[in-house]
Amino acid sequence: MVSRYHTPVLTWIHSAANAELEFSYLPFINYHLPSHFMRRAIYPGSFDPVTNGHLDIIQRGCKLFDEIIVAVLVNPEKTAFFTIEERCDILSEVLKTIDRGDCHVIVEGFEGLMVQYAAEREANAIVRGIRAISDYEYELQMALMNRRLQPSLETVFMMPAEEYSYVSSRLVKEVFQLGARVDGLVPALVEQRMREKIK
Ligand SMILES: Nc1ncnc2c1ncn2[C@@H]1O[C@H](COP(=O)(O)OP(=O)(O)OP(=O)(O)O)[C@@H](O)[C@H]1O
Ligand SMILES: [Mg+2]
Repeated sequence: MVSRYHTPVLTWIHSAANAELEFSYLPFINYHLPSHFMRRAIYPGSFDPVTNGHLDIIQRGCKLFDEIIVAVLVNPEKTAFFTIEERCDILSEVLKTIDRGDCHVIVEGFEGLMVQYAAEREANAIVRGIRAISDYEYELQMALMNRRLQPSLETVFMMPAEEYSYVSSRLVKEVFQLGARVDGLVPALVEQRMREKIK
C-alpha cells in the first residue's frame, strides 16, 4: 500500500521546504537585487501610435516598477505614420491621464541595441506585452537573445485587459485610413492627431 506521506501535495511541501538546497543546483546564476534598489524597466515599442493596449501595459507595469522608460523605437523596417518626435510628444501627453501610482514614467526616443540602452539607463527589466500566441514566438526569441547578450536583464511579459487583446497600432492605422472610428482603441488625443495628420 502506498503511504499517505507520498501524496503529491506532501511531496511538494517537502521539496518546497528544501527549496534553498535545491535552488543551489539550478544551472543558472540568480541575480538578486538589494531591497532598496530602484526598480527601473524599459518598455520598448514603435508606439505608432500609442494605443489603449500600450497604456494598459504601462499602467500594470507601474504596479511593479519605480520607474518605466517608454522607449520609442526608430524602426527602419516599418513605414511610420507619426515621426519619432510626434510619437514621443503624444505619449508624454496621454501618459499624464493614466494611473501611474508612485511610478515615474518617462518617454525617450531610442535606436540601437536594447541591452546596451538598458545598461546605459541602469534598467534591470524589459517590459513587453503579450496579446495572443502570435506575439509569443517573436517575443520569446527577443527575450532569449537579450538574455544571452545580458543575463542580468529580465524580460517581464504582461497581458492586457481582454478588450485590448486584439488592438495593435497597425490595425488601428489600417481601419482609420479606411474611414472607421478608432475611439475606445486609442486615447481621444491620438485620434485627433491622426485626423490632423491626414488633412
Ligand atoms: N494591445 C496590446 N496589448 C498588450 N500588449 C501590447 C498591445 N499592443 C502592443 N503591445 C505590446 O507592446 C510592445 C510594443 O509594441 P508595438 O509598439 O510594436 O505595438 P504594436 O501594436 O504591436 O504595433 P505594430 O502593429 O506597429 O507592430 C510589444 O511587446 C507588444 O506586444
Ligand atoms: Mg508590434
